[in-house]
Amino acid sequence: MGSAHSLRMRIDPWATAQVSDYDRLLQEFGIGKFDSSHLPNPQRLFRRGIVFGQRGFDAIQRAIDRHSPFAVLTGLMPSGPMHLGHKMVLDQAMYFQSVGGDLFVCVADIEAYATRNMSLEKARKIAIEEYISSYIALGLGRQRCQIYFQSTRKAVKDMAYLLGRKVNFSIMKAIYGMDDTTNMSHMFSPLVQVGDILHVQLAKYGGLRPTVVPVGIDQDPHMRLTRDIAFAHRLCNVMVAKDGKVGAFVKTEEDVDGVLDIAEKAARASGFKDLKRIPAYKALYIEDAEPDDVPAIDEAVLREEAARNNMAFFLPSSTYHRFITLFSGDKMSSSRPETAIFLSDPPAEAAKKILRAKTGGAVSVDEHKKDGGKPTECSVHDMLVAHLIEDDWKLSEMFQSCKRGERLCGQCKKEAAALVENFLRDFQERKKAVGDSWKDYVVEDL
Ligand code: TRP
Repeated sequence: MGSAHSLRMRIDPWATAQVSDYDRLLQEFGIGKFDSSHLPNPQRLFRRGIVFGQRGFDAIQRAIDRHSPFAVLTGLMPSGPMHLGHKMVLDQAMYFQSVGGDLFVCVADIEAYATRNMSLEKARKIAIEEYISSYIALGLGRQRCQIYFQSTRKAVKDMAYLLGRKVNFSIMKAIYGMDDTTNMSHMFSPLVQVGDILHVQLAKYGGLRPTVVPVGIDQDPHMRLTRDIAFAHRLCNVMVAKDGKVGAFVKTEEDVDGVLDIAEKAARASGFKDLKRIPAYKALYIEDAEPDDVPAIDEAVLREEAARNNMAFFLPSSTYHRFITLFSGDKMSSSRPETAIFLSDPPAEAAKKILRAKTGGAVSVDEHKKDGGKPTECSVHDMLVAHLIEDDWKLSEMFQSCKRGERLCGQCKKEAAALVENFLRDFQERKKAVGDSWKDYVVEDL
């Protein structure tokens, strides 16, 4: 299993993240750059580079391009009030839903129970009142959408248990820093998230298909774990070998010939003819394939393999967004209310938080006018980019005039504060009207 052992930096999903160097993160963890240029009408977080990274996104891009099925999964941990940081994954998830994805919203009540000492009843109440109702008020589409609770979805818990066989304690220690004092429910909760992410590919939930999980970088350990586990459960993978040749390589010891038959059938069905079987290496070389053909052949093998392996899945894809905060450095955090705009903040209070936020202005007005401001280091500008201004042209105008020293921080803050205030006023009205309609979205299947 994976690269997780050699990490020098560790990301802790249960701590308040302090992320300043996204480029280093990309390098250190092997996250790819996100390229939004092929997305149809990309939502602003994509087109403005707030979504900066991805793993395996090519599978989703292909599905969008071909109008073939894919799933979208987002999860919420109902441990505190919802803030604008949480809205960023929802914005992405709703975008993917709008371009053809089946959307699953997971309420991580088991995780809140295991890691935040919360009762399931309380987690459920917070989930409904704080998150689900807000999602609906924010426009969550009812088509191709279901919300579920970890605690009542048997398939998720079963998969957590069954998939856990490929993970041992030393892997959990390396990824999460767990130790002898970690409670067993907590130790198990990442596997429940693995179950969340992979169960959507079971026949009952729409079948084998690529799945995208938009997350903050803090959730990357779970993505690595899930991808490693999904990979480990394949009987056979199509890869480029060290010598540069494309081959299908069998990983199981049982019935190697039978698995090679599967690979051969899939390779032929994908149009390849020059196939060389080397049973001693448990390999089928596909001599007429190029490295670019690997994803398509691997997908064909996966689909063929699934007939006898009920744990054969696409590796899930993920997207990562930069954290937006009122004070640079940390993410919006419920434990530090001054860093976050909560959706339940009284609108006038939220406006005040913007007025107090850290900007990229120079020390004095004179200097600002002379040298210009630094919008790239300004949390008010970040708020405009991520949340408050839809019009690209207008935003770029504000950016340029700040850099030229014409637009001052006071003016910007006032405008941003007014936008937040209006947004929250409008949102809170709509949320009141949601009432019991959340029930139409929830699929309980105990
Ligand atoms: N761990 C996530 C959080 O802390 C919640 C979560 C549970 C989740 N299952 C998920 C997120 C599946 C994405 C996909 O917020």
